[in-house]
Amino acid sequence: MCGIVGAVSRSQAVLRPLVEGLRVLEYRGYDSCGVAVAEADGVAVRRKVGRLAELEAVLQDGALDGALGGIGHTRWATHGKPSDENAHPHSDGSGHLALVHNGIIENYLELRRDLLDAGVTFTSETDTEVLGHLVGREFERTGDLAAALRAALARVQGYYAVAVVAVRDEVQIVCARQGPPLVVGATAEASFLASDVLALIPHTREVTYLEDGDVAILRPGGFELSDLAGNPVERPVRTIDWDAEEASKGGYAHHMLKEIHEQPDVLAQTAFDRLLQVEGDVAFEGGGWENEALQRVQRVQVVACGTALHAGMIAAYMIEGLAGVPVDVDFASEFRYRDPQLVPDTMVLAISQSGETADTLAAMRLARSLGARPVSICNVIGSTVVRESDAVILTHAGPEIGVASTKAFVTQVVAALLLAVRMGRARGRLSVEQGRELLDELRRLRPRVESLVSDEVDARCAEIAAQTQDAKGFFFLGRGINFPVALEGALKLKEISYVHAEGYAAGEMKHGPIALIEPGMPVVVVNSPGRVASKVRSNIEQVKARGGRVICVGSDPESLALADEGVPVPATNEWLSPLLNVIPLQLFAYHHALLRGCDIDKPRNLAKSVTVE
Ligand code: G6P
Repeated sequence: MCGIVGAVSRSQAVLRPLVEGLRVLEYRGYDSCGVAVAEADGVAVRRKVGRLAELEAVLQDGALDGALGGIGHTRWATHGKPSDENAHPHSDGSGHLALVHNGIIENYLELRRDLLDAGVTFTSETDTEVLGHLVGREFERTGDLAAALRAALARVQGYYAVAVVAVRDEVQIVCARQGPPLVVGATAEASFLASDVLALIPHTREVTYLEDGDVAILRPGGFELSDLAGNPVERPVRTIDWDAEEASKGGYAHHMLKEIHEQPDVLAQTAFDRLLQVEGDVAFEGGGWENEALQRVQRVQVVACGTALHAGMIAAYMIEGLAGVPVDVDFASEFRYRDPQLVPDTMVLAISQSGETADTLAAMRLARSLGARPVSICNVIGSTVVRESDAVILTHAGPEIGVASTKAFVTQVVAALLLAVRMGRARGRLSVEQGRELLDELRRLRPRVESLVSDEVDARCAEIAAQTQDAKGFFFLGRGINFPVALEGALKLKEISYVHAEGYAAGEMKHGPIALIEPGMPVVVVNSPGRVASKVRSNIEQVKARGGRVICVGSDPESLALADEGVPVPATNEWLSPLLNVIPLQLFAYHHALLRGCDIDKPRNLAKSVTVE
């Protein structure tokens, strides 16, 4: 995901520290990068699609070597393809100001229209450029950069970390946060900002995290914090004592844990700027999702592997339920070797985090050869799956390093919901009001996801993991849209803690697996209010009657009351419940693996991306 750095110094050149800061952030993944530095008479910008080495080649001429203030960015494309023009920093064309941004300006189309009407010319496809112009116009008027940024942000709906450099008489650097992280720190000589504390550690270990709504003004040797109205605010100074290994995980013990904690953000990144709240509909960037294309679809065939397959099973419930289109789901490895009979106008939906999974690709190619239209939900722009798709919904999970997929799953489910709503609206199956209600609920989900990655829920999952640590095996049960969540919970546990865990449709227990239940066997049941909640309650009773130890995860109060142990999750609409219910299951697996001393980020025998058969 995108990275931000910034620095201003009394007497030392900042270009090297900025580039080194970007290098530290490379691990987050990016497709272009750039810097903007303050010169005597303006701001100079250099940006390049590709790796940092290519930007460094451009900087070789030494023209910017003397600058005392500047900002830098690594971009992971969301609005607009990776290109020099779309790379940050963006400016307002005045030559006096440049800006970098992580996150989304949700109302950028509306703001862009206003600016176009006012005669502004745009040079990129990004939402960020809108902000550059808004800040630039205010700055031209007053020359006060912090005030200009505040005025611009007052017009913006969205979710951002932003840093701006400008020159008028003196160098000014300000930054603001509403969502994605920003951290600042100062030495006697300089002050620094970054989206990730790792980039500050080479300069100082005394850092201050901005909170939502904070604005920071950086000066050589210090910084001032205020709110969006300009009132001073105080934030604690924290001392970072991580070693290098811990630091690469952002202070978390494992990449997996870090990625679990990123879920509130990636949910917002994947969903929010695509929601057309008034129309109760969804707008995807890129073609292929228009009404005519979706009205023609007779059937959907999902192909995927592993965790992505579980997201695909959830997609099937959503697309059938909300858009009324029949859906089949298959393991890509099975689909490619059977003789699939595809009806005309089948849309083959491949779901993949990496976009390079061999079986998924082979299934897509087979589908195309049979006359179907392959489309995809994928996390990696430019990957083979993306290149070979007729239409793509990119998930904005950022790079996922832990082999056990967590945040990628959540974004795949979000993308599936958006697709189901788009299809439902295109086919007249969902009304404006129904679409709006679902999207409103999705918009309200971020704080609820945040509440599930809290210390309290983490401690509860750790406690239950400790209680069940000696169990020989586990069942994970669910029904309806939470059946794939049960499968995913079992997959997480076996992947990283090597404990036998079986996910099952709760209604199928009586046809065999219930024979395995013996006193004390832990059975994790996922249940949220909805059309099958009462059925799941009966399944809980059946397990209990045989002495099974029921651990309930979900928002169905009666199931939680029936269970031996429970992890309550916040209530939401049944269609969205998988997005919340899966999180305690991820934490549960994590704590099991931790107790067993397993190599959590690199489990034995598994690969992050399986590019061979
Ligand atoms: C591997 C990974 C899983 C992933 C699956 C599909 O098995 O370990 O975490 O779900 O591949 O990968 P993809 O990149 O296609 O989503």
